[in-house]
Amino acid sequence: MTLAARTGVLVAMPEEGRALVDAMRLEDRLEHGRREFLFGDLWGERTAVVIARCGKVAAATTATELIVRFGVETIICTGVAGGVGEGVAIGDVVVADELVQHDLDPRPLWPRHIVPLLETGSFPVDAPLSDRIAAAASDHADAGAGGRVHRGLIASGDQFIHGPAMARAIREALPTTLAVEMEGAAVAQVCYEYGVRCAVFRTISDRADEDAAADFTGSLGAFAASHTLGILSGVLGSGGA
Ligand code: ADE
Repeated sequence: MTLAARTGVLVAMPEEGRALVDAMRLEDRLEHGRREFLFGDLWGERTAVVIARCGKVAAATTATELIVRFGVETIICTGVAGGVGEGVAIGDVVVADELVQHDLDPRPLWPRHIVPLLETGSFPVDAPLSDRIAAAASDHADAGAGGRVHRGLIASGDQFIHGPAMARAIREALPTTLAVEMEGAAVAQVCYEYGVRCAVFRTISDRADEDAAADFTGSLGAFAASHTLGILSGVLGSGGA
């Protein structure tokens, strides 16, 4: 049997993907590379949902598998993030316009945040898809979920940001950062390299401050999965990604 999907939805943690998996008409599943790929119909679209695990290596590996092995044309990376931009509050949604690896620093050989030999460090998203995600997020907020929708820079790194000094360091290096997480820029880099459409949106689970760990855990259990589900239903359910 050939496993394939048109769209890949990549989350890091099981809690971030559970509601999607429950909503899916499951057709195939594959345990591969110590992660599980679930294939099925999500609002009329053949989709692969995968729990990648946390961090850039896991995210990049999983994105590559989705593209090379399962032939996806689009990857949507979602889940939660820490809000570091002014006015980015718990329960808000951030839709990425670009993504940077905040912990990538090849100086003095290359400038900070630049991926050596790729000559860029800012990875793009698919603008029309991101516009549709932002519209669906606004509709979801207006329909009762609450919160605001922001567009801009998401910074990714292999660190859980949990204090003012850590958050300040990221804001100083990348002043327009709205949110931090651990996977998005890796997915965006792989999509850029392979020429695959990419979008990243995140529900804010914490403020990357001293309460971040407790807020993260609380938000994951409370609303993160339902936000993802509500928003994606307005994207995949209205003509596909
Ligand atoms: N994902 C959710 N909150 C985060 C934080 N504070 N740092 C990194 N990744 C996160």
